[in-house]
Amino acid sequence: MREERPIIALDFPSFDDVKDFLEHFPEDEKLYVKIGMEFFYAIGPEIVHYLKGLGHSIFLDLKLHDIPNTVRSAMSVLGTFGIDMVTVHAAGGVEMMSEAKKVLGNQAKLVAVTQLTSTSEEDMRDCQNIQTTVQESVVNYARKAKEAGLDGVVCSAQEVELIKAATAADFLCVTPGIRPAGSAIGDQKRVMTPQEAHQIGSDYIVVGRPIIQAANPWDAYHEIKKQWNS
Ligand code: C5P
Repeated sequence: MREERPIIALDFPSFDDVKDFLEHFPEDEKLYVKIGMEFFYAIGPEIVHYLKGLGHSIFLDLKLHDIPNTVRSAMSVLGTFGIDMVTVHAAGGVEMMSEAKKVLGNQAKLVAVTQLTSTSEEDMRDCQNIQTTVQESVVNYARKAKEAGLDGVVCSAQEVELIKAATAADFLCVTPGIRPAGSAIGDQKRVMTPQEAHQIGSDYIVVGRPIIQAANPWDAYHEIKKQWNS
């Protein structure tokens, strides 16, 4: 099921910056936000409880990767937070992913990170000793995530069609690297506009800088939301 709200990546250095950012939105505007590991490690579960208390939906992007027993225990804690989506690394293996899913149940959607977008084919061959293309490795990890019972994967919008063809149409594709036409690309390499992401079948888009660094974040958010739903 496609989520109509773009997920806003709250990539801010401090809790106060998050609070200032949220001031741009009316209180009754319920957002879907992404919290990453840096922020979570710095502030702790308090940030989740704060955002939840305001009625926002939360994607907790902690990218868990450890032995199945440890990930299961960690996930049993995260499951009590009232979050909406959380990540593990597919490289942790089918057993690890499946244990995480079992303990999380329907408390939140569980999606897997496949190959990080920062990993080049050369790195992958050299460091992970995976002798395929990055795309083949991404699709393989997506299949493993599906086999483990996960809800979907985080991927580049360019990979959505391949992943859905290899798994299922309802296997969720969460796509960062989204830029409205004409906005700064920054360090993202292969970007897509919100409309293109919709057309190729993304279920969620994750947008950071085009919203959080905009002169008027509310306007930027609504423009992106409009494009994503058009
Ligand atoms: O500012 P920008 O829109 O590029 O932010 C995208 C967000 O999605 C950031 O929080 C970034 O860490 C995250 N992300 C990504 N590429 C991935 C996975 C996560 O850009 N493959």
